Amino acid sequence: MEKNKDFLEFLVSHSKRYGFIFPSSEIYGGINAIYDYGEYGVALKNNIKDFWWKSMTQIHDNIVGIDSSILMHSDVWSASGHVQKFNELLIDNKDSKKRYRPDLLIKNHVEKFFYKNEKKRKEILSRLYDCLSNNNLLGIKDLIHELNIHDPISHTNHWTDIKYFNMMFKIEDHRKKNLFLRPETAQGIFINFQNVIKSNRMKIPFGIAQIGKSFRNEIVARQFLFRLREFEQMEMQFFILPEEEKFWFKYWKNMRMKWHLLFNLGDEKYRFIENTHLPHYASLGTDIEFNFPFGFKEIESIHSRRDFDLIKHENYSKKNMKVFDKSKKNYFPYVIETSLGLDRCFFTIFSSSLKKEKINNGKIRTVLKIPSFLSPIKAAILPLVKKDGLPEIAKKLFNNIKFDFKLLYDHTESIGKLYRRQDAIGTPLCFTIDYDTCKNETVTVRYRDSMKQYRIHINEIKDVIKKETELKSILRKIHN
Ligand code: GAP
Repeated sequence: MEKNKDFLEFLVSHSKRYGFIFPSSEIYGGINAIYDYGEYGVALKNNIKDFWWKSMTQIHDNIVGIDSSILMHSDVWSASGHVQKFNELLIDNKDSKKRYRPDLLIKNHVEKFFYKNEKKRKEILSRLYDCLSNNNLLGIKDLIHELNIHDPISHTNHWTDIKYFNMMFKIEDHRKKNLFLRPETAQGIFINFQNVIKSNRMKIPFGIAQIGKSFRNEIVARQFLFRLREFEQMEMQFFILPEEEKFWFKYWKNMRMKWHLLFNLGDEKYRFIENTHLPHYASLGTDIEFNFPFGFKEIESIHSRRDFDLIKHENYSKKNMKVFDKSKKNYFPYVIETSLGLDRCFFTIFSSSLKKEKINNGKIRTVLKIPSFLSPIKAAILPLVKKDGLPEIAKKLFNNIKFDFKLLYDHTESIGKLYRRQDAIGTPLCFTIDYDTCKNETVTVRYRDSMKQYRIHINEIKDVIKKETELKSILRKIHN
């Protein structure tokens, strides 16, 4: 556990030092569970988005993308049930005045103390889920007392009663009308359902994909990028015939797992967890979990939302939300949803790729072994020394190749230190320009992961970068 805590601290400090993630509003003391992405962070995030977007809208000819607004009519959230049901439980410790989610207190306790006792674990969790399904808040409090759960800060068990708390951020417009910051991007898809059908001439089965910000007033917001109050989601709603629900649910479950495994972070780091406690809109549900430095946690949820949202929006808006089909006439299609948190996906890649490695003469290097197609910088062009015309040759090469790939030119330190810096930000290739380059137009190419070096002609540079970092070959594997 201590080891994992140390690793998390190392991860947080590395991500700040090398321009991946900064704590938001740091000069004012920071703001809980909100982060900013630096130059390399946003580049990595955009590359993950690009991969997801293409996997959905380019590889599947029956999935189209949209980008709906964050602010929507407040009836959207009454219709979707979020005003009434998007609640979390909260409990306060009377001594520390700290606030917790009681269900998470129980789950964490079970994971910590009963991870080897499957029977006991199941028994406690099933009691918790029973209480949650029956709104039995007293039952949950009893469970906390029976398990003798103490506040980690005050170390006492003086708990308040448990209450519900709506997780949507409410804001007010100039007419004092309530608006909400969206807690999921999905509703923007449902309310545009008929627009997409008409403008894109879509026929069932088809999907609508969207990437965008979501906001949740999380009670317990910690563990770095894991639980944020402002985050991004990559969601896809796939509209189907109701009788094909089970087929498409299984299809998307497998397809989504396959997508994650393409990052090559280790298949054993992922698992499916069937949802025993489904959200208010779902009939089938499964989560994909990832083994973070603090254990297995959800990264993506896959649900059958049935016709729940379309029926609700038809009732509230009085607009037709059905589709017309010659044989079935008018009907509400069912929806299979895949919903991935972009920041959590970033976290899986970053946390699995950052390594400290022993290299020759006992030295340690820090290297970010991210999949090369996601690297913020695809290759660095480095002169061996900052004299004798080598920087000029290197700069010329850089200016020639920069139209094809995101490159970096650097001559500020010794070559060893330049390599270390590129390792730390995950650049898969470094090309070094030296005295032989002047003689025979060759350069040294150095590979990040193996640290092996080869001599190649300058005309081969583009092909080497393409081969190492191309997204196309990864995308091809989606349907294989
Ligand atoms: N539209 C369905 C939906 O929003 P969800 O399981 O509540 O389902 C989907 O969220 C995904 O969004 C999660 O698996 C997670 O990756 C991400 N997510 C949810 N809350 C988050 C938070 N507070 N911080 C970061 N990511 C979050």
